Amino acid sequence: MDGIRHLIGVSDITTSWWNSLFSLCREIIAHPQDYSDANRGKVMASLFFEPSTRTKFSFQAAMLRLGGSVFGFENANDTSASKGESLADTIRMTSAYSDVVVMRSPSEGAARAASLYSEVPLVNAGDGGHQHPTQTLTDLATLAVTRGEIRDLTVGLCGDLRYGRTVHSLVEALAKFPNIRFVLTAPPELAMPDYVTRFMRARNLTFTEVPTLDDALPQLDVLYMTRVQRERVIQSATQSTMEYSDDFILTRDKLARAKRDLTILHPLPRVNEIAPEVDLDPRAKYFDQARYGMYIRMALLLKLCAQPRTAPEPVAVGGAKCANPACITRREPYLPDLRNDDGGCGYCDVN
Ligand code: NCD
Repeated sequence: MDGIRHLIGVSDITTSWWNSLFSLCREIIAHPQDYSDANRGKVMASLFFEPSTRTKFSFQAAMLRLGGSVFGFENANDTSASKGESLADTIRMTSAYSDVVVMRSPSEGAARAASLYSEVPLVNAGDGGHQHPTQTLTDLATLAVTRGEIRDLTVGLCGDLRYGRTVHSLVEALAKFPNIRFVLTAPPELAMPDYVTRFMRARNLTFTEVPTLDDALPQLDVLYMTRVQRERVIQSATQSTMEYSDDFILTRDKLARAKRDLTILHPLPRVNEIAPEVDLDPRAKYFDQARYGMYIRMALLLKLCAQPRTAPEPVAVGGAKCANPACITRREPYLPDLRNDDGGCGYCDVN
């Protein structure tokens, strides 16, 4: 599919590939009945080693609406991974049974690691606090449908920018579109990680950091809200922030200062960072966003399932080293050393 075998990170999403995926998505939205058998006989392995409702159901619904089938487990504790099986062996086995593997893991870089052992396309449905490329496809689809061409936008990212993987992926993806500026608003302990701000500087992206949502709102075309990633904050001994102060909560009063054509997005689930009365505002697009997520995943699964099964290239055994305690290489010692373009870890991108 235009050179893409696996969807692991946003660097896999080229502009031409995005355009072809999005035009297929538009076709599916316009004529869903034409696609109801398109993946008949194809099977998706759904491996969610971390809790998920939206992403998991969205993928499952997408595959079922294409006439395909799905297998997976309800609870990661019921799998052989809990008996000590390696990720490599789990993927060798599940990819032998399926035509596409969709995987979510609490470990950063797990999807890259899994792809080394998969006979079929592998999709990253979230790897720890690292990346979430199909949420990014969802976000881009929502922007493209609601705003037309993606260009000339001031995009506010608000909330837990440190542990929220969706914003990391979104920044990287929007960097490929013309004239996008970012306004970052986060509690200091939850500020954007260095590797993302380094990326923005290296790409000459304009970004400012402002202390409150009130300060950010008037200039924004798009506001992307996120919840505190409690499950990741808890794991970090240095973090105490579990709830936002009012500065990071969107209310109807604050919206009075925003542009009339603002687009408000949220990957969901929401906790308290968007007051319920905001749902009634026509600028709130987060529930539409969830639906576009299913359609864009239908387009993705259609393209990926059309690929032939291919034995993975042999890889070296052992040698990976990474300073990030959440990196998959700390759990799976047989992984080979991989580097990214900046010389950082080829699994989780930490330098
Ligand atoms: C996001 C995720 O899993 O990272 N949710 C999602 O994919 N729908 C955001 C979140 O959990 O806060």
